[in-house]
Amino acid sequence: RQAVHALWKGQASADMLSFRLQEAKKSYTGINPHNVTYTGSMVAQRGTQDLLCQLKRQQLRTVDGTEEPFAKLGWRQLVPGKPLQQLRDTPYRTCAVVTSAGALLRSSLGKEIDSHDAVLRFNAAPTRGFEDHVGSKTTIRIINSQILADSYHFASSSLYKNITLLAWDPTSYSANLEKWYSKPDYDLFPAYVERRRSSPSQLFYILHPAFIWHLWDVLQNNIDEDIQPNPPSSGFIGIIVMLSLCEKVDIYEFIPSRRHTTLCHYYDYYHDMACTLGAYHPLLYEKLLVRRMTETSMDDLSNNGKAVLSGFSQITC
Ligand code: C5P
Repeated sequence: RQAVHALWKGQASADMLSFRLQEAKKSYTGINPHNVTYTGSMVAQRGTQDLLCQLKRQQLRTVDGTEEPFAKLGWRQLVPGKPLQQLRDTPYRTCAVVTSAGALLRSSLGKEIDSHDAVLRFNAAPTRGFEDHVGSKTTIRIINSQILADSYHFASSSLYKNITLLAWDPTSYSANLEKWYSKPDYDLFPAYVERRRSSPSQLFYILHPAFIWHLWDVLQNNIDEDIQPNPPSSGFIGIIVMLSLCEKVDIYEFIPSRRHTTLCHYYDYYHDMACTLGAYHPLLYEKLLVRRMTETSMDDLSNNGKAVLSGFSQITC
């Protein structure tokens, strides 16, 4: 509760988290599973515009088949001909990023969410049965590699059809592609290749691990305490992708509203505050950064759970 209030004010820090979440963070820092070696600075004074500009410089990047080992595997022909960065000739005017937070239940935001030109959803988050609260439109879905590693469910589920898909897998901080290909965190490659061959018209990209870790660098660079040495959550990655593709981005329940709850996802029964405030992912800090970039008032944030950001095309850096 204390951390949520502090987030509304833009002042959250790890010592506001429960003992368990603080311990989880310490343990990941000790293990450093992705071999993160950050040598940059840590400051926390950049204003809204500066933060947006710093993120804008981290060009959206996907595996395009020009680098090894993907070049020799023929991925130049496998990946979509149209790069994600050029998905649109002009940006979408309005976009919605729908996190999977339990707080969306009973939000009645469905109609508002569906009124956007493009809607981004995450992983296996369904809309059927939850339309009143999360809407029914999906334009893009970001999926982590766990979803692809379970290739049977991925291949059969309608959640992953007739939309643009973006997959990601963290690998290590050095983002060495040869090592990544031979030992991904979860093997996303076979299901990717299979879907590209069976549905070549579906736009389906894999985010470049260097892009993921550049976002992590920006996070750490703007927080004056050590953040978890683990990749940002799908939510933060998705927000940055949409800032690249849209003029205006409405983000739902990333900064938790008064509806905040221990319910992890609106679509299941699991309760854990880690889903909202982070254990593995540096989620508290991702939220703090989004809080610092939004012009939305504290009342609007806490009452509606909607943070509004200007897309990169709208800012001059
Ligand atoms: O759990 P999952 O990664 O599928 O959820 C999608 C994203 O929604 C997360 O990466 C996180 O950024 C956001 N989320 C949240 N609060 C929750 C659950 C998810 O902010 N309670």
